[in-house]
Amino acid sequence: MSGSHYLIMKNLFIVANWKSNKTGAETNHWFQEISNLNVQVSNKQIIVCPSFAGLEIAHGLIKEKQLPIKLGAQDISAFDEGSHTGEVNGKQIVEFGSYVIIGHSERRQSLGESQELLDKKVGMANKYKLSIIYCVQDENMPIPAGVSVIAYEPISAIGTDNPDSPENANEVARKIKQNFSNVKYILYGGSVNGENVSSFTSQSDIDGVLVGGKSLNPQDFAAIISNA
Ligand code: PGA
Repeated sequence: MSGSHYLIMKNLFIVANWKSNKTGAETNHWFQEISNLNVQVSNKQIIVCPSFAGLEIAHGLIKEKQLPIKLGAQDISAFDEGSHTGEVNGKQIVEFGSYVIIGHSERRQSLGESQELLDKKVGMANKYKLSIIYCVQDENMPIPAGVSVIAYEPISAIGTDNPDSPENANEVARKIKQNFSNVKYILYGGSVNGENVSSFTSQSDIDGVLVGGKSLNPQDFAAIISNA
């Protein structure tokens, strides 16, 4: 095989962040619909992150329908199992999911998550061999050692229908990869939809997308997968 004449397809991550949405019945409905849509995933890694309450239900549905979808949690406790009321720990997450989002800007802002706390969460995710999707809002934020997947999500673009420009997102992604040698993949997040997704995924240093609002409706999410 000669190296010059075949196209190497990028492996893309398409991640749904459902945030604090969907009951068990709604989760059931979403998986039923996405299964009926029969989306081609080919070179794409599809990851759905329901709330903790939906993880087990989603896990059962993926198994039952044999869907090519992996699960992730939207957060992880900085503590291991034990006396930490209300916390969901890595050992509990890994029963159903293989990914975890850490450092989402909504948690940094509304819950005041500090760098020290995020470092501990990264430690726990590593302990339980969860793949981390670590969120930053610009290229200058600290990235804990050992993190290889980053989601770049500028705050002005989250839930606003005002995405970053693909060129700027690519430039930020390039700088992050340059500054942090552990980082292999950069996802863009912020007002991604079926129409604009390919303008991001076609950029040289962008390896996928983290999708909030438009992941809630299975038709919208299917369009993002197909068009990425
Ligand atoms: P959005 O959210 O797609 O609704 O802008 C993205 C995110 O916060 O992960």
